[in-house]
Amino acid sequence: MKKIAAWFLLLFLALPVIAQEGNLPASVRQACGPYLQNVTDTSFTVIWTTNMDAVSWVEVAPDDGTNWNNTARPKYYDLRGFGRRPIAKVHHVTVKGLEPDTKYRYRIMMEGVTGQYDRVGISYTPGYGLDVISHPTSVRTKARSYDRLHIAMVNDLHEGDSVFRRLFSDAKQQQYDFVVFNGDMTTDIANEKDLVKHYLKSAAELFGSSTPIYATRGNHEYRGNDALKWMDYWETPTGKTYFSVCYGKFFFIFLDSGEDKYDGDIRNLGIMITDQYTDEEAAWLKEVVGSEAFRHAEVRIVFSHMQPDPKGWFGNAVVANKFVPILNRAGIDLMLCGHIHNYKLYEVGTTNARFPVVCNKNRELMTLDVDKNNIRLKFFDPDHKLLRSLDIKTRQY
Ligand SMILES: [Fe+2]
Repeated sequence: MKKIAAWFLLLFLALPVIAQEGNLPASVRQACGPYLQNVTDTSFTVIWTTNMDAVSWVEVAPDDGTNWNNTARPKYYDLRGFGRRPIAKVHHVTVKGLEPDTKYRYRIMMEGVTGQYDRVGISYTPGYGLDVISHPTSVRTKARSYDRLHIAMVNDLHEGDSVFRRLFSDAKQQQYDFVVFNGDMTTDIANEKDLVKHYLKSAAELFGSSTPIYATRGNHEYRGNDALKWMDYWETPTGKTYFSVCYGKFFFIFLDSGEDKYDGDIRNLGIMITDQYTDEEAAWLKEVVGSEAFRHAEVRIVFSHMQPDPKGWFGNAVVANKFVPILNRAGIDLMLCGHIHNYKLYEVGTTNARFPVVCNKNRELMTLDVDKNNIRLKFFDPDHKLLRSLDIKTRQY
């Protein structure tokens, strides 16, 4: 009896110790990323997420063979707090003032925030940085000109992370200049964690820490309680869901093709106002095709989740009626879409577009090899088996 009482006494005495250990500061770690966004000839943006609220920064070093710890590396902070460091789980840091066509090493750094006490204090976990030996991260800034580009595109994976990993299992060897996610990568964004779980974590691991990613918004990315958080995970040149980028004289337009049903449709839950948004987008598109960079481009490719079809669903008609007339006067070489979950080539004359339109299938990876005379499309299954290829001569339309 005495023994049992002694055990209870011991347990009673130990409880505060156990409780105290439970209160020890958690360790901050990156949960997803880093992955590259908006790489230009003098800058790049890194996005990553943390397992807890944190403040963050990025350190940058030249690719000069020096040990990372050879000297203090310059620090770049998340500037979205307008002069105050954001305490967040999703981190955006832009590094500026770089040389074109130059490789840099970078390292993401973070300190978890365990408590905020108004103006009295903020408590932090010990700092943590990505290990540069086991996780070497680097980026090459854009060159001023390119002879050719090697690009990959997927779409409509609808949460198929295992297929995604197979399609990109050789991405490091492929050394894509950039990768495009052309919409509907998840069926909805019920929770922002879905974006991480269903493809972003894999994308970062397989190629995203050194290969820029561009994403168009598909109709399914308009759906779900966290749909508005979509742009927390991307950094685009315009700050909007539509934007353009050029690589030398290769010009790319990324459209937001909206929802597939009209704004007032009962299934849009009274929450959609795409009419005004796509009007603004069309006005922006007019400016883009009038720009000097666009007019001097040798190759012009448009990415749009939905394909144009004046007689199709509302979303297809929006692309056909608002965007295609502007593009028809602009000398577009090719539009690349997804949405229909099948491969399809719409030759000139089969839609209202005066350029070919190609839809990529949902479980296939399409590569583009672009030079100033030709765009070669290749389509692969998840085992990297070549299924078909297609050549589009440039400057025909
Ligand atoms: Fe779609």
